[in-house]
Amino acid sequence: MAKFDENARPFSEKWLDERLGVVTLKKVLSTEYWIPKDINFLWAMGMVLAATFGLLLISGIFLLMYYKPDAALAFDSVNYTIMTEVGYGWLWRHIHGVGASIVFLIIYIHMFTGIYYGSYKKGREMIWISGMLLFVAFSAEAFSGYMLPWGQMSYWAGMVITNLFSGGSLEAYGLVEWIRGDYVPGDAFLTRFFMLHVLLLPLVIIGLIVLHFGTLRLPHVNNQKGEEIDFEEAAELYKAGKKKESKVIPFNPVFLSKDVFVMGVYFILFFYLVFYHFDFAMDPVNFDPADGLKTPPHIYPEWYFLWSYEILRPFNKDLGLIAFGIAQIALFFLPFIDRSPNVAPAHKRGLFNIWFWVLLVDMIVLTILGKLPPEGIYNDLGLVAAIVFLLLGPALFVITKMEKKI
Ligand code: HEM
Repeated sequence: MAKFDENARPFSEKWLDERLGVVTLKKVLSTEYWIPKDINFLWAMGMVLAATFGLLLISGIFLLMYYKPDAALAFDSVNYTIMTEVGYGWLWRHIHGVGASIVFLIIYIHMFTGIYYGSYKKGREMIWISGMLLFVAFSAEAFSGYMLPWGQMSYWAGMVITNLFSGGSLEAYGLVEWIRGDYVPGDAFLTRFFMLHVLLLPLVIIGLIVLHFGTLRLPHVNNQKGEEIDFEEAAELYKAGKKKESKVIPFNPVFLSKDVFVMGVYFILFFYLVFYHFDFAMDPVNFDPADGLKTPPHIYPEWYFLWSYEILRPFNKDLGLIAFGIAQIALFFLPFIDRSPNVAPAHKRGLFNIWFWVLLVDMIVLTILGKLPPEGIYNDLGLVAAIVFLLLGPALFVITKMEKKI
């Protein structure tokens, strides 16, 4: 019987390797890309995000085949043609709607995991900054997509958010009209947001995902204890067969198989929502066609923007815009505001732990209040929660400056 040759490679792989170096590429990107062993399911969120983005792209392409970017036709092309006439059009729309909402839940979990374990510090600043750029790009993608069904909430959310660009001296520059291409949201507004949603922003997001993955390469992924690992030494141990002693595992197939397991559980829940509760991701007001003469009694954005909307709302227009700007920018600078040298989970970092939970609870409170009408007690609570959020930046600087080295 012929002896089995371990090094024998399929002809196609040999052919491609000689021309494109695919074997080296596979090693560098997967089989010899080392991941710490000591991580939990929260470290699968990055791949869950990537998979959800993939699903959004695919479902978006199907929707694009029937969507009409015209203020007179858009509403019917979504609510009538896609939902009732196109075979399985409803399914692609539900996947896209649920995906657009759930992706933010996962982004927030991913961000808070990074904050909790200090994964933005000490050499990992670029991972955080590229992540924040992704957050901004996803926000713009979601906002532009929300305009496309051209329902009442699309129109009025578009009106309110673009109005922000008429604050202070911006009014004089006619910025808001420039953005809208008109005095009020109309056809020009819809078509430019359509272009952003289906072309420019997806390209930016794909580029940023590549950048984000690239930033993970040198500092490597953090771990549950924030332990500094000698990756080269640990990888050698692993390759020498001392897998138990080694502190790392290869991305492919070991880590990936764990990721795929978490993704499996996630997609069961995801498709449960798609088939049985898709409406959670859709505002009933948006099932009425856009009407510039009928303002809805209460205008609010989708749940994932509510915390930042609530930071803006309790102040007057100009102050609100400044508060909103600070809130967005502050998170970008997190790696530089946090002055502590400790890369460790929050529960080991004393006051930082309290800071972390205040931030999380405050953002949840802001989210709840953002959906309620800005009246009476809600307004006062909103003001307090917004001020707390704005003070958390300076507080972090002071707390972490005082933090002792662990
Ligand atoms: C939406 C697109 C995003 C994708 C596809 C993505 C993907 C990933 C992947 C695959 C990882 C490695 C595994 C893991 O830790 O989960 C990772 C790590 C990381 N991401 Fe993201 N991410 C995204 C958004 C963000 C955002 C919005 C932030 C926060 C600003 C962020 C911050 C980080 C950090 C700090 C790490 C390092 C974690 C560690 O070292 O333990 N990412 N990301």
